[in-house]
Amino acid sequence: MNIHSLGPQELESCVAFDGLAAAQWWSREQWQAELNKPSVLCIGIQECFDLYALVCGNLVINELHISFLAVHPSYRRRGLAKKLMLELFLRARSSGAENATLEVSTMNSKACSFYNQIGFETHGIRRNYYRNGSDALIQWKCLKGNHTKG
Ligand SMILES: CC(C)(COP(=O)(O)OP(=O)(O)OC[C@H]1O[C@@H](n2cnc3c(N)ncnc32)[C@H](O)[C@@H]1OP(=O)(O)O)[C@@H](O)C(=O)NCCC(=O)NCCS
Repeated sequence: MNIHSLGPQELESCVAFDGLAAAQWWSREQWQAELNKPSVLCIGIQECFDLYALVCGNLVINELHISFLAVHPSYRRRGLAKKLMLELFLRARSSGAENATLEVSTMNSKACSFYNQIGFETHGIRRNYYRNGSDALIQWKCLKGNHTKG
C-alpha cells in the first residue's frame, strides 16, 4: 500500500470511499469543492487504485483544520490512520502549519481514543453540533517538535 496525494481526478473514488467507510459524510458536490481547493491537503492510502484510508485537511494560515478521516472498515486497527495522519502533519508542517485542529463527536469513542493516542487534547466543546444532537469536542495538537505518542 502506498500514500498518494488525491486531487479532482480521484473524485469518484473519494465519493465511493466516503459511502463505504464513513456513511457518506460529504456529498459529491462537497468532495468536488474540497478536492479543487488549493489550500486543502487530501491524502490516501491506496493499492491498485483502491482506497483504504483517506484524510483531508485545510491549511488556514498556520493551522491545519482536519475535516475528514476514515479507514476502510476491514482494514482498521492496522495503523493506517496513524500513518496517514503522520504524513499529513509532515506535509502541513512543511507548508507552515504549527497546530492541527478538528472536531469529533462525544459519541465517537473509537475516534476519540485514536485522536488521544496520537496526541490531540480537548480544548473546548460545541453543544448540539451534529445532526443527531451530539456534542463536538474541539481537539488541538501542536505540530512543532514530536508530540505524537507511540
Ligand atoms: C477512527 C479511525 C479513523 C481509526 O483508524 P485505524 O486505522 O483503525 O486506527 P489505527 O490502527 O491507526 O489506530 C492507532 C491507535 O488509535 C487507537 N484506536 C484506534 N481505533 C480504536 C478503537 N476502535 N478503539 C480504541 N482505540 C482505538 C489505538 O490506540 C490504536 O493503537 P493500537 O491498535 O496499537 O491499540 C477508524 O476507526 C475509522 O475510520 N472510523 C470511522 C470514521 C471515523 O469515525 N472517523 C473520525 C471522524 S472524527
